[in-house]
Amino acid sequence: MAGDRKLCLSGKGVTKVFGLGRNKTVAVDNVDFNFYEGEVISIVGESGSGKTTLAKMLLGLINPTEGEIYFQGERRDLGSHRKKKEYWKSIQAIFQDPFSSFNIFNKIDTVLLDCIRMRGGGGLPHEQKVALMTEACSFVNLKFAELTNKYPFELSGGQQQRLMIARIFLLKPKILLADEPTSMIDACSRATILDMLMQLRDEIGMTPIFITHDIGLAYYVSDTVYIMEKGKFVESGSADEVILRPKGTYTKRLINDVPKIYEEWDLSTV
Ligand SMILES: Nc1ncnc2c1ncn2[C@@H]1O[C@H](COP(=O)(O)OP(=O)(O)OP(=O)(O)O)[C@@H](O)[C@H]1O
Ligand SMILES: [Mg+2]
Repeated sequence: MAGDRKLCLSGKGVTKVFGLGRNKTVAVDNVDFNFYEGEVISIVGESGSGKTTLAKMLLGLINPTEGEIYFQGERRDLGSHRKKKEYWKSIQAIFQDPFSSFNIFNKIDTVLLDCIRMRGGGGLPHEQKVALMTEACSFVNLKFAELTNKYPFELSGGQQQRLMIARIFLLKPKILLADEPTSMIDACSRATILDMLMQLRDEIGMTPIFITHDIGLAYYVSDTVYIMEKGKFVESGSADEVILRPKGTYTKRLINDVPKIYEEWDLSTV
């Protein structure tokens, strides 16, 4: 089985240094990783361990200081704007703060129409675009007809988060980076959001990468877990292996911070 797994994203010696001299911060320190298509990956670490910096490099928003990133086994080349745009059809992200994901001057229908355009649907007849937007909204329990004339900031935090997922529904990326996607919302909607993302994984074959300090969430959702400490991956493997049989003291400490991971993520109680 392992033999026919396809690599979607991998890295060798990926490093990011900010600043110079005494102000130097090694935010990501020589990490290697192999993410396979269809597996659910979590990157877990404390605040400041380098998770968002790594996510930005994976997205191609910032360049590694050293090391190489490979997309579907090939060395990634984001040398031109056109290549970046092409890459972003395959990899998308949702961030801690949903608000930062939207251009505040764009109404919701513009936000969603942009996604349709990115997927090459710019020339579709208007009714068909409306049908696509309506479908995307109903996937996340929003009513498109009630949103058309609104701006994203007129929505509640939870609605904004769901709008972000409606975008993903339309964009159908191969890889979705979710940087603390559920931090703004209560446990009940948190479970809903996760279920939506997992449903997208099954329906469109998307590979989700969760970035979190919540090892309980990582255990609940992922096949493979990478533990990040001070810019390095200190432990990685299957979720069971890493979380039920942790080797490193850092991993053990993260687990001790959430003593009730099983209960907290038991959806039968929601
Ligand atoms: N643009 C930047 N310039 C300088 N230093 C930065 C920059 N971005 C991040 N850092 C530093 O890099 C380190 C890692 O930051 P990063 O945001 O990747 O952490 P994180 O794991 O995402 O934390 P959190 O869980 O709080 O979001 C921190 O020490 C941070 O101060
Ligand atoms: Mg972060």
